[in-house]
Amino acid sequence: MTAGGQFTPEYLESLADDTEAWGEARLVPFPAPRQERPSGNLPLSLTSLVGRDDDLSGVARVLDAHRLVTLIGPGGVGKTRLALEVGRRLMARYPDGVWLVDLSPLTDPALVPRAFASALGIQETPNRPLAETLTASLRNRCLLLIIDNCEHLVDASARIAERILHTCPRASVVATSREAFAIGGEATWPVEPLASPPDDPIMSVARLAVLPSVRLFVERAASVQAGFLAVGPERRRRRPDLPTPGRAAAGTGAGRRARRVADRPADRRSPG
Ligand SMILES: Nc1ncnc2c1ncn2[C@@H]1O[C@H](COP(=O)(O)OP(=O)(O)OP(=O)(O)O)[C@@H](O)[C@H]1O
Ligand SMILES: [Mg+2]
Repeated sequence: MTAGGQFTPEYLESLADDTEAWGEARLVPFPAPRQERPSGNLPLSLTSLVGRDDDLSGVARVLDAHRLVTLIGPGGVGKTRLALEVGRRLMARYPDGVWLVDLSPLTDPALVPRAFASALGIQETPNRPLAETLTASLRNRCLLLIIDNCEHLVDASARIAERILHTCPRASVVATSREAFAIGGEATWPVEPLASPPDDPIMSVARLAVLPSVRLFVERAASVQAGFLAVGPERRRRRPDLPTPGRAAAGTGAGRRARRVADRPADRRSPG
């Protein structure tokens, strides 16, 4: 029944039919649950990243030489999306995890250290400034912090990033903001809009469809209208059932632009 005091697999299998032995089986010493530190708090991505290959490799390269990289760009350009993807792809570099601190819900700069503590699961110590507890806890950790949406709290974000970088030698930071922190050691990475379709009246839908900005639009349109396809008017004449870009994008605010893209004269000549 046992080999060297351990239950053999054959014996354990036989228990399925041997209810009398179940009491004994309960004595099998199950291994204690592993108490691993969680390796971060990044949310799972529900959609695929479109394009941005150069940004991903570029930011990773800059992070080799700088412990603070600030992704800068206008609202909605894709800074958060890029930062999260950088974090996901670099997880193996940071054994103590990649942690997202989202500052967008905050309005009071005094609450910035609390947002860090809460994201990282760090408890406040009585009679000790939270920023100090934070840096003491991170001091020996090799981790990446993504400080997201800092533009409305740039000074407070810069202060805490600077403090962490000065006291935690194995911590790195990727921040997203519409303006730079302007502190020592910072590298900035401008996030440009995904390239727009060239103003080329003879460009076919097939060629347009490989552009990241068009792919992103088509993906989003397909997500709000099942069966959406980017096709030229020629093919729509043959398949009147296909949703038009304008119809598919209704509600996304992108319809007018989509009509401009898919209804160009050249597309009318295209076989679709
Ligand atoms: N390359 C991409 N692939 C897929 N989705 C993207 C891409 N870039 C942006 N998005 C999507 O576009 C939306 C806006 O992007 P994001 O939130 O990253 O912009 P942002 O620059 O951080 O804006 P803000 O300055 O307002 O914080 C999000 O839904 C995001 O998932
Ligand atoms: Mg953002």
